[in-house]
Amino acid sequence: MNIGIFGTGIVGRTLGSRLIDVGHSVKMGSRTQGNANALEWVATAGDQATEGTFEDAAIFGEVLINATNGEGALAALTSAKAENLANKTVLDVTNPLDLSHGFPPSLSVSNTDSLGEQIQRAFPDAHIVKTLNTTNCAVMANPQSLPEMHNAFIAGNNDEAKQKTRDLLQDFGWPDEWIIDLGDITASRGTEAWIHLWLRLMQHFGDANFNLHVVRP
Ligand SMILES: NC(=O)c1ccc[n+]([C@@H]2O[C@H](COP(=O)([O-])OP(=O)(O)OC[C@H]3O[C@@H](n4cnc5c(N)ncnc54)[C@H](OP(=O)(O)O)[C@@H]3O)[C@@H](O)[C@H]2O)c1
Repeated sequence: MNIGIFGTGIVGRTLGSRLIDVGHSVKMGSRTQGNANALEWVATAGDQATEGTFEDAAIFGEVLINATNGEGALAALTSAKAENLANKTVLDVTNPLDLSHGFPPSLSVSNTDSLGEQIQRAFPDAHIVKTLNTTNCAVMANPQSLPEMHNAFIAGNNDEAKQKTRDLLQDFGWPDEWIIDLGDITASRGTEAWIHLWLRLMQHFGDANFNLHVVRP
């Protein structure tokens, strides 16, 4: 499948490489064609890796992944153009981190709203699915790297888009039973707010190789 990824950071590059490894074609989008990170990624990711603008990636992708900086996400998707997002599944892995006061970050939106909801409101014809933002990108792309089962979450308003997201997560290596459907896009409030605890756990463990496992009787 053709997949467009918005974002040239570590998340976009890690997810893009993994998707190509499992047989997809990926176009990585950026504010400018020829972004240095994107070109470096294309040079190493294989024949099915291409790059261009956010708009180029949006046109290319049957499914899209938003892996942009939280503060730039709405601007990035605006330049991708609403008509290129319409009726498409858009996996949103962003967190609305505000680092303007240093580390640790605060959230630029929280509690009664979320970045996932802001994006869905701004692009009502796109099917936004908040997912994978609760874990490090190495774990997102290769969940089997951890020794036991653990969970990914999905949240969105469109059931078909959530099924497509489940299918793509399975391509990354997430068994279907590890994926928990939290309901509509407002569940992004909870998964985005988890970053506060995630950061403390990272400081505690000294690395990002961990994830949540929800245990039930
Ligand atoms: N690091 C992780 O493992 C992890 C885990 C969970 C969630 N996340 C979330 O995943 C997202 C991506 O993280 P990252 O570290 O890979 O990348 P990042 O540095 O947060 O974002 C890079 C991308 O954002 C774009 N961008 C930045 N400011 C912009 C603006 N004003 N307008 C339009 N686009 C803008 C950049 O465009 P250019 O290409 O043009 O520079 C670039 O493509 C973030 O929201 C992060 O919170 C990360």
